[in-house]
Amino acid sequence: MKLTDLRGILQYVPEFREKTIVLAIDGAIVTDDNFATLLLDVALLWSLNIRVIVVHGASAQIKALANQAQMTASDLDGSGITDAATLDLSLTAATRLTHEILQGLSACDLRAACTNVIIAHPMGVIQGVDHLFTGKVERVDVALLQTLLTQGVIPVIPPLGFDGDGKTYRVNSDGVALAVAEQLRAIKLIFITSQDGLIFRERLIRQMPASDLVKLVQQDRAGFATEMLSKVQHATAACNAGVPRVHVINGTMDEGLLGEVFSNHGIGTLIYANEYENIRPAKKKDVRAIQLLTKQAVEADELVKRSKAELEKGIGDYFIFDIDKNPVACVALHVYPEQQQGELASLYVSSAHENQGVGRKLLQFVADKARDMGLRELLVLSTQAFTYFISKGSFVEGTPDDLPPARREKYEQSGRNSKVLVRKLN
Ligand SMILES: CC(C)(COP(=O)(O)OP(=O)(O)OC[C@H]1O[C@@H](n2cnc3c(N)ncnc32)[C@H](O)[C@@H]1OP(=O)(O)O)[C@@H](O)C(=O)NCCC(=O)NCCS
Repeated sequence: MKLTDLRGILQYVPEFREKTIVLAIDGAIVTDDNFATLLLDVALLWSLNIRVIVVHGASAQIKALANQAQMTASDLDGSGITDAATLDLSLTAATRLTHEILQGLSACDLRAACTNVIIAHPMGVIQGVDHLFTGKVERVDVALLQTLLTQGVIPVIPPLGFDGDGKTYRVNSDGVALAVAEQLRAIKLIFITSQDGLIFRERLIRQMPASDLVKLVQQDRAGFATEMLSKVQHATAACNAGVPRVHVINGTMDEGLLGEVFSNHGIGTLIYANEYENIRPAKKKDVRAIQLLTKQAVEADELVKRSKAELEKGIGDYFIFDIDKNPVACVALHVYPEQQQGELASLYVSSAHENQGVGRKLLQFVADKARDMGLRELLVLSTQAFTYFISKGSFVEGTPDDLPPARREKYEQSGRNSKVLVRKLN
């Protein structure tokens, strides 16, 4: 391991210390060769004072047990009808899996406990069909989970719920993970699956606001593999319930978990709660980051070079787009109050994050801000990205006459001959 990797990790520690992360592990992952390594990653998170809760599924094992017994399970994932025989299989499969997880955690010197923290009620009769032993999560015993966490014990939660009369129900593990993450105010919910992430029409979604994912699944449900629809639905529900970030990662890949938690371009899919939450006003200490970000574009003459002093003076106009606290893009809004005009400038998205809608988000953010300030028009001067502003940002081509007089003078002096683009704000 490189020491720089450790430094990279340590920068996240203050943000995550004492915070809760819920790991929702699919049953199939527990029997994968990489599982022991995954648990080492959990041990590392724990050693950094990150509170980890493990929720697991069991459908792969229920299916295997049913095959062994030459029977067909009435349901595999706790969302359909669970008959008495399938409940029996679920109990055997879940108990064995929980045991394997506890065994693996203790091999990493971690204290862990199986819990009965899911209070469930029967799903009941839906459209005339009795769902028998399938349960619906009613409540999570938050106090018990907090006690365990405070005592340094990792809670392991099987996909089973209990009611006040001691009856057991099969519950869907994604639903359990959502309820636990919501009620424990987790900062992250990480679905650990055997897929690379959420794949839509054969393309991996790297990151997306929850609201866009809701629209996508409404428009084209068939674009997702059926087995991933539950992750889609629970990821968006978690964001709507206040979990800021939901990840879907491949648990069979080495370092997948650490890569996702401790880097700003993880290996899987990141679904996040609010479109603009990644955008913040720049501070003086961001000057260097802005210079580093835009260096390449300045060299390619896409952006005008600005000195440190210039940037410091005008820093109030800049905004930064962060992913996991790392600046990955920037933009500026210069205001000409007399003309009620604004100029969008220095838009730059780092090459690792291009074509993921970050540019559009910043563009929309600046347009919204300018509108809120009562400006009537937004301008952009661009040499090489003018078609981007026209096709993606609703700008139209204008002329230097559209510029405020002082800006026009600078424009003439620069000799850059940029295209002038205009967007009306009303
Ligand atoms: C232009 C830039 C801001 C786009 O950011 P981005 O986050 O990658 O863009 P988005 O994800 O919002 O949009 C991607 C779309 O824009 C298109 N696009 C990207 N750069 C483009 C350009 N220079 N000209 C025309 N279209 C462009 C992509 O092909 C993609 O099209 P698609 O929707 O059909 O797939 C970014 O490439 C960049 O920083 N460029 C260098 C600096 C620069 O020129 N800044 C503008 C001067 S103010």
